[in-house]
Amino acid sequence: MSEPFPSDLIRTEVANLPDYNAGLSLDRFKAAYGIDCLAKLDSNESPLGPSPRAVKAMQHAATGVARYPDAGNTHLRGLIAKSLGWHEDRIIIGNGSEDLIGAMFRAVIRPQDNVVTICPSFGLHEFGALTFGATVTKIPFNDDWSFPVAGLCDALQAKPRVLVFSSPSNPAGPAITEMEFRQVVAATDPATLICFDEAYVEFIEPRKRFDALAILAEAQKPFIVLRTFSKAYGLAGARVGYGITSDARNIKALMKTRNPFGVNAMAAAAAAQAIGDTAHLKAVTDLATLERQRVSDALNLKGFECAPSQTNFIFFNTRGPAHVLAENLRHKGVLIKAWQEAPFGHWARVTMGTPAENDTFLDAISKE
Ligand SMILES: Cc1ncc(COP(=O)(O)O)c(C=O)c1O
Repeated sequence: MSEPFPSDLIRTEVANLPDYNAGLSLDRFKAAYGIDCLAKLDSNESPLGPSPRAVKAMQHAATGVARYPDAGNTHLRGLIAKSLGWHEDRIIIGNGSEDLIGAMFRAVIRPQDNVVTICPSFGLHEFGALTFGATVTKIPFNDDWSFPVAGLCDALQAKPRVLVFSSPSNPAGPAITEMEFRQVVAATDPATLICFDEAYVEFIEPRKRFDALAILAEAQKPFIVLRTFSKAYGLAGARVGYGITSDARNIKALMKTRNPFGVNAMAAAAAAQAIGDTAHLKAVTDLATLERQRVSDALNLKGFECAPSQTNFIFFNTRGPAHVLAENLRHKGVLIKAWQEAPFGHWARVTMGTPAENDTFLDAISKE
């Protein structure tokens, strides 16, 4: 017998949201499939793990967890400010960058607002807005996987409350060019908050990188740039991300909509060490760069079309329902992410693991 559940308890906007497709942990995978996972390639985690310095820092910080952490994350904010040459009072730390996406929507979205993003897109760029009764306009990538600059500029004329997208894109993989980014920023009205999610920025090849922060600052329009320690820094389980904004008043607002002690002491200590271990970061990004080329080539040879990637994953056409392929691969111990957002039900995202893990994936998919 379950308890009575009032039918109108949950707000309609929340009830109508699909479940968030968060993937399976290794333990849950084993419990569900009865085998060990051989290649966990569904969540864009780092195959090289965190910097050993970050692990040591977490161990040390664990001895102090009887105390609440510094809610202002002063030490880590100072380090990030220094590394970026940006104002410390315009940086905020979150319990992962997804925490800051939620805090940003809670701070600015009113019902009937509009949010513009791209398609396919990272689910939370949409969910957070829908929860508050906003509408979301999704502009599809161009056929050649370049960013839909013309479509975005058109949509921006209606002065949406927020423009949010990731570059490099999750799940598609390409990075916006500097010229395209400048065009989009120029077309944005100052009434629109630009939320530029750089979760995978460390994986962009050097000749394609540009300083988005400088361009946004020069444009003098409200913005928040998001970064994370979950991907290239290998700290997904610790949960640390950060936001860089145009104005300290944005941070004041986000501090009210974020959980005050959301970033735990161990996570903050780990991130503070990770940021200084540039050799580890280079090893991670070098590996992803080599592997994304090798695995894309191998997938192409097998007849799977791949979107160009500047990330640690590849988005590819599964030539049939992606969820069927993903389920078949799970029975072989390989986890990938089948995309569910229309019209991408025949596309999946595979993270670049170690060369051995990637070979396991390629071997398994060859037999499909
Ligand atoms: C584009 C993008 N933004 C934000 C996040 C959230 O990352 P985290 O909350 O782990 O920092 C992710 C995670 O997959 C992502 O792909």
